[in-house]
Amino acid sequence: MIYLYGKEFKRGVTVSDATIYDVAPTVLRVCGFPPALDDAMKSRFYRMLLESDEDTCPLVEGVAIRSYSKERHHEAICSVYGRSFSEPPWQSDWDRFEQFDPDGVFVAEESKGKTPVGYVISFRRPGYGYVSVVAVLPEYRRRGIAFTLVRTAIRYLRQLGVRTIMVDAPADSPPAVHLYEKVGFRVVGTYEDEQVRHGA
Ligand SMILES: CC(C)(COP(=O)(O)OP(=O)(O)OC[C@H]1O[C@@H](n2cnc3c(N)ncnc32)[C@H](O)[C@@H]1OP(=O)(O)O)[C@@H](O)C(=O)NCCC(=O)NCCS
Repeated sequence: MIYLYGKEFKRGVTVSDATIYDVAPTVLRVCGFPPALDDAMKSRFYRMLLESDEDTCPLVEGVAIRSYSKERHHEAICSVYGRSFSEPPWQSDWDRFEQFDPDGVFVAEESKGKTPVGYVISFRRPGYGYVSVVAVLPEYRRRGIAFTLVRTAIRYLRQLGVRTIMVDAPADSPPAVHLYEKVGFRVVGTYEDEQVRHGA
């Protein structure tokens, strides 16, 4: 069994080529799973579109938002992921997916020790921008860090000229769904609905 974004997967699960999160293929491959996702998993995620867009990235006291540096942040992100989702840390090749854009990754560092306490991953896909994952260590939550990280990613995607921005939020995670709603995203369906609508 492996864990991916808070969900458990057993070996032998049937999956399709469409993926909810673009890092999923890497994680599944590393763990020896077939390269696909099952329909049940798709409906567990809300597809959310950014509707209202204020260009604000409020400062959080004691925390600095930094651009991603592979040297400084690559391994730290694996462990922040593990602690944030209460799962085994990511494999160190988490960044080896086709759309990965290091410039679309931002890290929240505790200002004094420069320890990474959260991060967001975003990238451009054909026709839209995607916020793939945001995570903050439990002891640093409810201080606005994730809000600022996601807003920073949106600002980056806007600078690339992206107009449509999406996320897929775990439907059973009120913190995730509320966070994205606070940022300005609205639920437009499940991931599966969206695939049907776009004929993917
Ligand atoms: C979701 C997560 C990233 C939020 O991080 P955070 O830094 O605590 O979030 P913020 O402090 O920026 O909160 C912004 C808003 O999100 C919502 N929110 C955050 N945590 C919440 C919670 N536990 N319950 C309900 N709403 C919550 C609130 O609307 C909050 O605004 P408010 O504080 O004014 O009410 C964090 O809980 C986490 O890392 N969870 C595990 C990973 C995860 O689920 N990631 C999202 C899916 S990829």
